Amino acid sequence: MRIHKTSDYNEMSRKAAQIISAQVTLKEQSVLGLATGSSPVGTYKRLIELDSSGDIDFSEVVTVNLDEYKGLTPDHEQSYRYFMNDNFFNHINIKTENTHVPNGMAENLELECERYEKLICSLGIDLQLLGIGHNGHIGFNEPGTSFVANTHCISLTESTIEANKRFFDNADQVPRQAYTMGVKAIMQAKCVLMVISGKEKAQIVKESFFGPITPQVPASLLQLHSNFILVGDEAALSLL
Ligand code: F6R
Repeated sequence: MRIHKTSDYNEMSRKAAQIISAQVTLKEQSVLGLATGSSPVGTYKRLIELDSSGDIDFSEVVTVNLDEYKGLTPDHEQSYRYFMNDNFFNHINIKTENTHVPNGMAENLELECERYEKLICSLGIDLQLLGIGHNGHIGFNEPGTSFVANTHCISLTESTIEANKRFFDNADQVPRQAYTMGVKAIMQAKCVLMVISGKEKAQIVKESFFGPITPQVPASLLQLHSNFILVGDEAALSLL
């Protein structure tokens, strides 16, 4: 595990964008695993700047997102497909057909999980970008999820619904289920890059990366990844 401590969110985002940019420069056809949430938004902004200045070329890049709410259409403002288009894909030179997000509206849940799992396996992720939930979730792999789970549909925990309600009018509107890539696929990425910021994440950072490896803290498995890079600001790393 390599830890980069940065002064604040902006520096964290700059550092993470540099790492992703290096990946894409070295391999134009990189497969990037991507995340939504507040943590990577600044990273996407930096990458958009690099794209605009011609310092990075996404034209051959393929992306696979970690997760999607079940029951939200791609054009729903809180769907993760909408988030990715709005915060990233619409502003860079990437082919839409090369961007993948689980289909929240799939009629058959099991078939959708199988389809997405096959896709991830056939692509092979070069670099997986992650945030972390307050309870240690990665993707929507909530505490207690098996470390060998494939893409699956899960019920969100109360703490995740509580954390995500800020994006909706109220907690009742937060979907109760979501599709998520499994921890196994995340671990199979050649490189895992996590961005963490803010004091409220300090405790879970300590537990995840300096505590026991347990399914109760899904992110703790990353301690065993051979190329795991943690980029965190001072506040998030303040308990280490
Ligand atoms: C998002 C995702 C989640 C978030 C996590 C942290 O695609 O998979 O695991 O990374 O909930 O969210 P933020 O960054 O909003 O604190």
